[in-house]
Amino acid sequence: MENIFICVVCALALCCLAEELPAVKTKVGKITGLRENTNFQGKQYTVDRYLGIPYAKPPVGNLRFKKPEPHGPFVETFHAEKFGPACVQFDWMGLIQNTSEDCLSLNIFVPVQDSDQSTGHAVLVFMHGGAFSVGGAAMYPGDNLAAVGNVIVVTINYRLGLLGFLDLDDPRAPGNFGLWDQHQSLIWVNENIVSFGGDKNRVTIFGQSAGSVAVQLQSTYPKNKGLFRGVIAQSGSLTTSQTVVSPLNFKESGKFYAEKIGCKTDTVDHVFGCLVQATPENITDVVKNAVFSGNMDEMMKIALFPSIDGEFLKYHPTDMCKRARNETLAEIEFLRSLKLINGITGNDGLVFVQASDDMQVTRQEMNSQHIPAIASLIFNPPIPEAVTELLISEYTDWENPDDPIRLRDQYVNAQTDTNYKIPLVEFSQLHANASSSDSYTYIFDALIDKHIVPSPSWMEKGNHGDELAPVFGYHKGYTSTYIKEPDYTIPEWEVELSRRIMTHWSNFAKSGDPNEPVKSVRQWPKYNMDTQEYMLFDKEDSSKLYLGARELKFREILTTVREEVLHVKTGKSYFKSQDKDETCVKDGGCDGE
Ligand SMILES: *[C@@H]1O[C@H](CO)[C@@H](O)[C@H](O)[C@H]1NC(C)=O
Ligand SMILES: *[C@@H]1O[C@H](CO)[C@@H](O)[C@H](O)[C@H]1NC(C)=O
Ligand SMILES: *[C@@H]1O[C@H](CO)[C@@H](O)[C@H](O)[C@H]1NC(C)=O
Ligand SMILES: *[C@@H]1O[C@H](CO)[C@@H](O)[C@H](O)[C@H]1NC(C)=O
Repeated sequence: MENIFICVVCALALCCLAEELPAVKTKVGKITGLRENTNFQGKQYTVDRYLGIPYAKPPVGNLRFKKPEPHGPFVETFHAEKFGPACVQFDWMGLIQNTSEDCLSLNIFVPVQDSDQSTGHAVLVFMHGGAFSVGGAAMYPGDNLAAVGNVIVVTINYRLGLLGFLDLDDPRAPGNFGLWDQHQSLIWVNENIVSFGGDKNRVTIFGQSAGSVAVQLQSTYPKNKGLFRGVIAQSGSLTTSQTVVSPLNFKESGKFYAEKIGCKTDTVDHVFGCLVQATPENITDVVKNAVFSGNMDEMMKIALFPSIDGEFLKYHPTDMCKRARNETLAEIEFLRSLKLINGITGNDGLVFVQASDDMQVTRQEMNSQHIPAIASLIFNPPIPEAVTELLISEYTDWENPDDPIRLRDQYVNAQTDTNYKIPLVEFSQLHANASSSDSYTYIFDALIDKHIVPSPSWMEKGNHGDELAPVFGYHKGYTSTYIKEPDYTIPEWEVELSRRIMTHWSNFAKSGDPNEPVKSVRQWPKYNMDTQEYMLFDKEDSSKLYLGARELKFREILTTVREEVLHVKTGKSYFKSQDKDETCVKDGGCDGE
């Protein structure tokens, strides 16, 4: 009797222990996680979390400024119970709890539900944003997207800033370490996700802002073939040159850091020797001082981005687009073999505007400051007056030409068009200009209530980052970083919008089509060159034709006008000019020539 009783207790204990600590056996060893509940629209779901799993050796000591090396097997069971630290950064927004140079980890969120197919759960791998210099995977809990979408969600860290992107044009520091980290994490997912119930043939990568640029870069790197089949790019395009490849000479950035750390900088040896030994604090101090100095020149020098290293990135994206017109490029072939969702928010450009609630823009400011600044984002000098005039005219509300409120709105539109909308269309057309591509595009216009980026009261459409809370199902671990009111209730229409978006995203991961297998009220039409159809997310979704067609046409005309005027001024034919490259469009994307 007593024995039986003990056995029952044992059995109960075993069962409950097992339920508390989900465990998997992977190629790299045993990993235990945590089982947690989460709620969405009043329904409770269960999700297994495996947090902080290292996918590469710590990139420290003589592995600093090197491609990541596979982590290799765990000696003992790995307890994946808390997020790993974010990569080294100067966290001026105060959103990151913990940073370390030893940061190459990933997190896996597994829904405790049957998968849609016998091959296992489809997988969504997230790459965070933050200008390749800040942010971390722990900011984006994948529980709700995993639960409601019934997909596995993976979030990854990758190296940032100097430690992620130092390019000294020298084999000791060739740049793009952050991109190689992302690639390594995808190899880890490919090799191990089956142990978590994942289907390695149904992996989709998604990312926002710099993370969106990153997923686009990964989808033009042909050696990623087989690691994922779908891409969701949210508000960031590799055809926006100033956010992809730094306009500065990278050596100059490295030199700047070394100088500020107090090293000799006469040779590459000096600079490398200095930076390979600097402490993480030495590096973040340089960033901090530059940010606080407010000196634009210093700000430019501390910002490091992906560079053309000849291996991960062979061409400037602008060249790649141009060459794709009459050459077969492996990069573009690979891109077109993938399924793509590409989108922006209606007011993405606000992130480039110092906007206050009472902001107004005078005609004088528009003509002498804002438009010239926009023009210099698009073109290298010289910029003929005709180009500035055309831009001024394009961004004038001719029923109210001098109204300071209208001018303010037009300035925001100019920023959105230049930095987001035109690059979005360029990339989607690059992908869709092949009959077999599965391409989808969206604009997120919904004016949600709470924003991560400070937003003025007059804003009428989604700001940069506003689609993230809906994509992640308003998980409290995400929203608590910027919604500081404990009793706050998310408006029901936003929660509904979130369900629709999570359904489209997870459908796309499962089937390659955002409309299957879970039907939505509104069908999301494919984007193609004929109709250029896109989804407009709002309180009620709709689909529209000719995404950004007017803006792209205007850019083409602007480019042609500039070329013609310069031809007249220099007296030589633009089309025969030897130094064509020098006067070539900067952010020309696919519209150069
Ligand atoms: C920060 O990360 C380190 C290394 O993983 C860990 O030991 C420490 O407990 C973490 N601190 C916090 C506050 O999470
Ligand atoms: C570099 O950092 C170390 C500690 O992290 C500090 O002792 C040293 O003074 C720093 N060097 C400079 C030049 O700031
Ligand atoms: C593609 O076009 C460019 C300019 O029009 C030309 O210079 C280049 O040789 C062409 N390439 C091929 C492979 O035809
Ligand atoms: C699409 O492809 C055609 C034929 O290859 C080419 O002429 C055209 O310029 C391309 N359009 C874009 C936007 O790349």
